[in-house]
Amino acid sequence: MADKIISHKIIVAGIGPGNPAYMVPEAVQAIEKAQVLVGGKRALAQFSASEAGKQKTMAIGGDIPAVMNFIGENLARQDVVVMVSGDPGYYSLLDALRRGFPQEAIQVIPGISSFQLAFARLALPWHEAELLSFHGRVPAEGKLTYSKGRLLGMLTDSKYNSHTISELLMERGWPSEAELAICSRLSYEDEAIVKTTLGQAGNLPVQGNCVLVVIG
Ligand SMILES: C[S@@+](CC[C@H](N)C(=O)[O-])C[C@H]1O[C@@H](n2cnc3c(N)ncnc32)[C@H](O)[C@@H]1O
Repeated sequence: MADKIISHKIIVAGIGPGNPAYMVPEAVQAIEKAQVLVGGKRALAQFSASEAGKQKTMAIGGDIPAVMNFIGENLARQDVVVMVSGDPGYYSLLDALRRGFPQEAIQVIPGISSFQLAFARLALPWHEAELLSFHGRVPAEGKLTYSKGRLLGMLTDSKYNSHTISELLMERGWPSEAELAICSRLSYEDEAIVKTTLGQAGNLPVQGNCVLVVIG
């Protein structure tokens, strides 16, 4: 089994924030050449081969063990390309793949993270930023504390969104006048970058699955 796994690769391709214009050419080529392609439903609808029978595909849903089995079975015969949003190195299936397969079998093609595009849209360097994810998780308490000048970039979901996270930060001592940027639908035609404050965020339409940038 180990030999078979090492002889083929799991190619984890970052597909960036959504618009193919923000994908690196190596990822585009790997996906086009893939005989076995795994990804979220939306990514598969966008990128899988239209010719019937050309590619085997599997959608990543809630059943991660089933996805791992599918990858393991196909890896014995050919490479498997796994599409993940943004960059594979920041909260993607890469963690689970590293737990399930030898590291030598995994090749990563980087993608543009939603954080990178958010900071680019704000023309804001992110070397001092602290990055947190509220996507299906809550960061450790100590990571939310306020200090003057602190720069936070945050991924969100439908529960932890532009309203709930703003409230949470103010409860942790962040001032209501702290600048907040709500970066939604990055790279798409309906992309929106809204600059406001933590105190005002609750008066604006709620945004989930976006990037929040706050400056203390
Ligand atoms: C599972 S995380 C994946 C992060 C990804 N690996 C990355 O590097 O961007 C999904 C979260 O990323 C953010 N995200 C992904 N695509 C986005 C986009 N086009 N616009 C705004 N936020 C996006 C949202 O916070 C979303 O809930």
